[in-house]
Amino acid sequence: MRLGVNIDHIATLRNARGGIEPDLKEAAKIALKEDIFGLTMHLREDRRHIKEKDLYDIKALGAKINLEMAAVDEIQKIALDLIPNSVCVVPERRLEVTTEGGLDVSIQKEHLKNFIAPIKQKGILVSLFIDANIEQIEASKYVGADYIELHTGSFSNAFLRGDYQKEFDELKKASSYAQKIGLKVNAGHGLNYQNVYLMKEIPGLLELNIGHSIISRAVFCGFQDAIRQMIELIK
Ligand code: PXP
Repeated sequence: MRLGVNIDHIATLRNARGGIEPDLKEAAKIALKEDIFGLTMHLREDRRHIKEKDLYDIKALGAKINLEMAAVDEIQKIALDLIPNSVCVVPERRLEVTTEGGLDVSIQKEHLKNFIAPIKQKGILVSLFIDANIEQIEASKYVGADYIELHTGSFSNAFLRGDYQKEFDELKKASSYAQKIGLKVNAGHGLNYQNVYLMKEIPGLLELNIGHSIISRAVFCGFQDAIRQMIELIK
């Protein structure tokens, strides 16, 4: 299991003052020295954190980029030009604080199939960010995704409440079924230094994409240490 570091919130902090600090490229350089799978960045339609230029700057550092994006033409065009290592299609609502639920793949199967076809043609791996739900997994397979990323938000909230078994079992079941039908499985959202150890009990998970918790810890101990501590926990 490898760590994908989501650096969106370094950009959030930078954008708070509209200047250049903290420098996203410097953050990327620090992260890339560690044993991580790559960097995850979400180019939102409202550009509330990273901007197009950040993607190109960070690609130029040789980073493996996992680009989170809504299934809209504007961002697809950027993905086709940037050629990240992978894209992860996420639902996007402008007023949400963060990605609040999984993508409803089954309701837009034909749209998504057409949407991801040119992305796959460019050799970019495609992941779909979905809830732990069999119908969504089957629809993801149908549209041609290489990966699913299981939304761990409900599990993380349940963990905070102290009663997470149901959500955890759903993740396990979903992961196992997805692998059985030939999908690779990642997970992310709301994972932190307290709950992440449980991901090791889900066989076959490949990547964990984690942002908020790492950036929060970095405020106290530095970005390098925060990444190292997380890697240690998922090894
Ligand atoms: N994976 C996806 C698809 C996401 O949208 C997010 C949030 O941007 C994450 C992982 C990371 O979530 P968190 O910041 O809670 O670690």
